[in-house]
This record gives sequence, C-alpha cells and structure tokens, in this order.
Amino acid sequence: MGELGRITEERQEAVRIPVEAYVFEDYARAERERLWRKVWLQAGRLEDLPEVGSYLTYDISEDSVLIVRTAPDAIKAYWNVCPHRGRRLVDTPAGMRNARGAKLNFVCGFHAWTFDVNGVCTYVANREDWGGALTDEDTRLGPVKVDTWGGWIWINLDPAAEPLRDYLEPAATMLDPFALQNMRPRWRNWTVFDCNWKVALEAFNETYHVPGTHPEFMAFGDFTGWGRPQGKHSHIGYDTGDGPKENASKLRLGFGDPRVATAEMQKYTWEGVNTNTTQTLVDVAQTLPEVLPDDASAAEVLKYWLDTARSIDAARGVHWPEVDPAHVAASGTSWQIFPNFQIGHAVNNMLCYHARPFGTNPDKCYFEVAVYELYPEGGAPETEWTYAPPEDFPHVLKQDFSNMAAVQQGMKMGGYRGNIPNPKAEGAVVSLHRNLARYMGTGAPRPI
Ligand code: FES
Ligand SMILES: [Fe+2]
Repeated sequence: MGELGRITEERQEAVRIPVEAYVFEDYARAERERLWRKVWLQAGRLEDLPEVGSYLTYDISEDSVLIVRTAPDAIKAYWNVCPHRGRRLVDTPAGMRNARGAKLNFVCGFHAWTFDVNGVCTYVANREDWGGALTDEDTRLGPVKVDTWGGWIWINLDPAAEPLRDYLEPAATMLDPFALQNMRPRWRNWTVFDCNWKVALEAFNETYHVPGTHPEFMAFGDFTGWGRPQGKHSHIGYDTGDGPKENASKLRLGFGDPRVATAEMQKYTWEGVNTNTTQTLVDVAQTLPEVLPDDASAAEVLKYWLDTARSIDAARGVHWPEVDPAHVAASGTSWQIFPNFQIGHAVNNMLCYHARPFGTNPDKCYFEVAVYELYPEGGAPETEWTYAPPEDFPHVLKQDFSNMAAVQQGMKMGGYRGNIPNPKAEGAVVSLHRNLARYMGTGAPRPI
C-alpha cells in the first residue's frame, strides 16, 4: 500500500484560494475552452445503453455530445450538431436532464439529413445540387473520444487527450476492487443551484462541515477527517484513531454502546438521507442490541454486523466483493475525479455527486445525486434521471444545499479575501484548485 496506506494526520500547506474561479464571468467563459474541452468527463452509465441504437446525450458548458451503442460491445460518441447548417441534432426533451432512447437513424429536424449509428450521413435531400462536391467526410458527424471505466461512459472533447485510464489514475486502481461497474442506481435526481459548480461539489468533498451543517450527526460519532491530493484527483476519509481499520469506511460505529449507536445511525441515515447504506445493512443493524451481548466491543459489533449482512445478501444473489480491509481503509470514503465528479465508494453501495456549469453562467450549476447498490441478477429497479427541486431532497442533503447560494453570495462581496481551507480536512478543495489552475492558467492557491 505504501504511501496510500498512510491516511492519518495528513496536512497540506495552508493556502488562500482567490474567488475568481467561483464568481468571475471571464473565468467561467474560459472554462469552456481550457477545462471542459480538455478533460475526461463522466457522461452516463453503460446500463443506460442496453442495445444497439441506444443513445444518450451529455451537455457540458455550451457543448453537447451524442453517445450511441453501435454494437453489443462498442459505443461511439459524436458532437451533437448537424454538419449541414449547425442545428443541434438531438434535442433534450423539455424538463429532462438529457435525451435518451433507441434508434438506428438520427434525422435532423431542420432539413432532414439523416445519420446512422456510425455517424455516417445516409440521406441528403437533393444531394446532386452540390454537383458532386459533398464528400462523406463533409457530411459525417464529428467524432468525440469515448471510453469506459467503472460502469461509466467517459468522453473527452480533445482529440489529443491522454488515454482515460492514465487520466484516472491512481483513482482507478484504488477503486477497481470495489467493482463499481456491478452497481445499479437505486435513485438518481438532478437539480439546479444558484451557485458555481465548484461551490456545489465542495459542499461534499470534506467532513469538516458535519458539526456545523449536520449537528444531529454529532450524537453518533466523531466525523473528523482528512482530504489529500492524488495527482489530478483527491480523496477524503475519516480519521481512524485507535479503532479497527474497517472503521475507516463509511460503516462507522458511534459513541456509547456500539450496538445501539450502529442501529440508530443506520436508521437515521436510511430515513434522513437514503444514501451510504442498504436495506440489508439497516435491517441487520436493528437486530444488534438483541442478538449481541451488552459488553460486545466495537470491533465485535462491526464484524458481526458486516458478516451477517454479507451472508444475507449472498443468499439472495448479491455478492459483495472481497476487499482487503487495509485497502478499504487506505481508499478512504470518497474520490474526487477531476474536475466535476465524486464517487463515494463502498463494497455494496456508492453515492455519487456530479456538477456541471449552467452554460457559462458562474452563478448557477446543474447538480446530480445518484445512489447505487448491488442487486441480484435482473433485480435492479428501472430508474431515470429525475428533476427534483432542492427542497424535495432528503433532509440531510437539504442541510448541505442550504449553504450553496449563501456561499456564492458571500464570495462575491467586496470585503471577502478568498477561501482559507483547513489544510488537513479540506485538502480536496485545495487539490481541485491547484489542478484547475494548471488548466486555466490562473487562480492558483497561494500560501498564507
Ligand atoms: S441543419 Fe441539419 S439538415 Fe440542415
Ligand atoms: Fe454534508
């Protein structure tokens, strides 16, 4: 495990982050060229393209990409624009996050030029009027780089981009044992916030806010944590203290009687936020005070709880991957994939956050929450991206959401001097801005 195994007491240099990345209109416009057209972006799940002709669109800043399954084992991506006179090719239905469906021909709504799944133009009305000048190269859809990892489709608008796997390291190697590609969504909602996309993501890439934003969680345990850079990416986790290594995962045991604390925290988490756990884990947790003796240690409670839940799930055809506890501890609780995706991983569920700019408006963003778990073969529910206004999310998330617009307003004020993140707990915030500055050529954190 080497370096990755040392997860406690990491501390980054103390810095101040200028506000330009959050609030300047010029910066937001420049992101389109310098950032969004250069990085690998998570654009959807593979299970959303089940058959040849299945397609979805992905919008980022002012660009849009059409992604199509072209064969049982192949997908391709194209600029979502008709080469004739520039009409966007596939529209997003009103009120939807993106277009999604299945068809073998894409017909432009303007003059009916038609394209097959390979991007080849198969119909041009009155083609002879061009007198033979129009080549297949002129009429084909523009290709976009696409690849897959972790069950996601990733796109890159830069033809010269490095391979996806190289881009994702070391996150990909650290997360591979969790077999995220086997998980399916339990629910997935999107919304719009009145804040920059970085403000939205940074509400979830540290645990320093737990006492201030979610005070009720303080009854369950100590949520002090760390955030550390990992190349372009970063990850966060909780301090382990003297507890068992497995305790560094999200399956935390609380204060007092660990049987009761686990039962209560699981119930609260399930009802209050509906993330980071599963029905099996919640149900088994409720039995702990009855089945285990009063003097059961935290380690014994944790082992019984997880072993029992694992075997109950196995009996219904849900097989958690075996991951070395030392690797679980070293991986932390969440990875921030540069620039706009976060994977909160575990062996049997995950919680992902994804933020996108609202065009080039620095004061608004799209924000998405997706909760996944393992299901028996063929047993995953059918889900769609569903719009929900911020007030309709589970109440723990609403606590986080309550800070978004207020932070955006605060950072625009004349007397504000820039963010001074906690060098240990908010290292992922610093990492994001160090890497952003490399792409944007401005906005680097400065030592304080
Ligand atoms: S713009 Fe698409 S067919 Fe004319
Ligand atoms: Fe939170």
